[in-house]
Amino acid sequence: EWDMESFIESTIKDIRNQVGKEKVLAAVSGGIDSTTVAALMHKAIGDQLRCVFINHGLLRQDEEKDVVKLFKDQMDIDLIYINAEKQFLGKLKGVTDPEKKRKIIGEEFANVFVDVVKKNGPFQWLAQGTLYPDVIESGVSKGPAAVIKTHHNVGGLPKWLDLKVIEPLRYLYKDEVRKVARLLGVPDDLLKRHPFPGPGLAVRIIGEITPEKTRICKHASKIVEDELKAAGWYDKVWQAYAAVGDDRAVGVLGDERVYGHIIMIRVVESVDAMTADWSRLPYELIERMSSRITNEVEGATWVTYAVSSKPPATIEPQ
Ligand code: XMP
Repeated sequence: EWDMESFIESTIKDIRNQVGKEKVLAAVSGGIDSTTVAALMHKAIGDQLRCVFINHGLLRQDEEKDVVKLFKDQMDIDLIYINAEKQFLGKLKGVTDPEKKRKIIGEEFANVFVDVVKKNGPFQWLAQGTLYPDVIESGVSKGPAAVIKTHHNVGGLPKWLDLKVIEPLRYLYKDEVRKVARLLGVPDDLLKRHPFPGPGLAVRIIGEITPEKTRICKHASKIVEDELKAAGWYDKVWQAYAAVGDDRAVGVLGDERVYGHIIMIRVVESVDAMTADWSRLPYELIERMSSRITNEVEGATWVTYAVSSKPPATIEPQ
């Protein structure tokens, strides 16, 4: 068992040694991983660190506001906020293949980064919140044959940019990152927040990403989260959301026939995301989520609950 206090101490020393007097740009997403990287780097090198937060339009409801508040008000770390919503959604228009979506998002991230570097640089380093499972699943240590899903936060920047990559969490599992974050004073509500994938709702919207499906996914996921919290279940599960695809089913709204979307609720328990088990939520809780989704989310007529574990399924449908 690795002691996290000594991990922090030795990592801060390593960062100072590696970085020296050079400047570091950190990509932050509002998740635990990148926030912890930012807190760790800030503690090690102070203002030599600049953080950038890119809103790709596929975040959880109100997440962009929460992230800006977290950095500026709660952690007192300078933040460059970039709203690239239109740019990302434009590039994703018409794209249905899950790996293509990831690739496009990865490439757009790189493009936006290049702009940020040009406008705010020079920087010599890029800090990333890559974790041990990302390293393994992206096949970095096993070669391309081991790729399950390409995680956009590993690699992908143009060589000419000449940014060295620093990944202070690359040997940690998620539960260890939480411990490190707590020790660094990252606020509790963020610590308790479920992990969220870099490509965001792109991996929870099956098929093409449209404004309508994005709205449904955000709203229905918010209901799933709120109901879990109200029932005291939120902290017991690893991830929870509502996914939406192109499948439709007939519903009735008053006297009207509505051909609406089928929503899939996915709630899983896990320790490190390498394996996961679907949560045996009480029927009454699933029922409450279901009736709120069909009542409150326009265009949603049916709700299903995903009962596949990982393996053979994965946590995200895309
Ligand atoms: P899967 O769906 O592969 O997900 O079982 C395992 C864990 O990884 C998250 N995930 C990602 N995280 N970039 C990320 O940063 C990605 O491209 C990505 N894809 C999946 C997922 O939410 C789960 O926690």
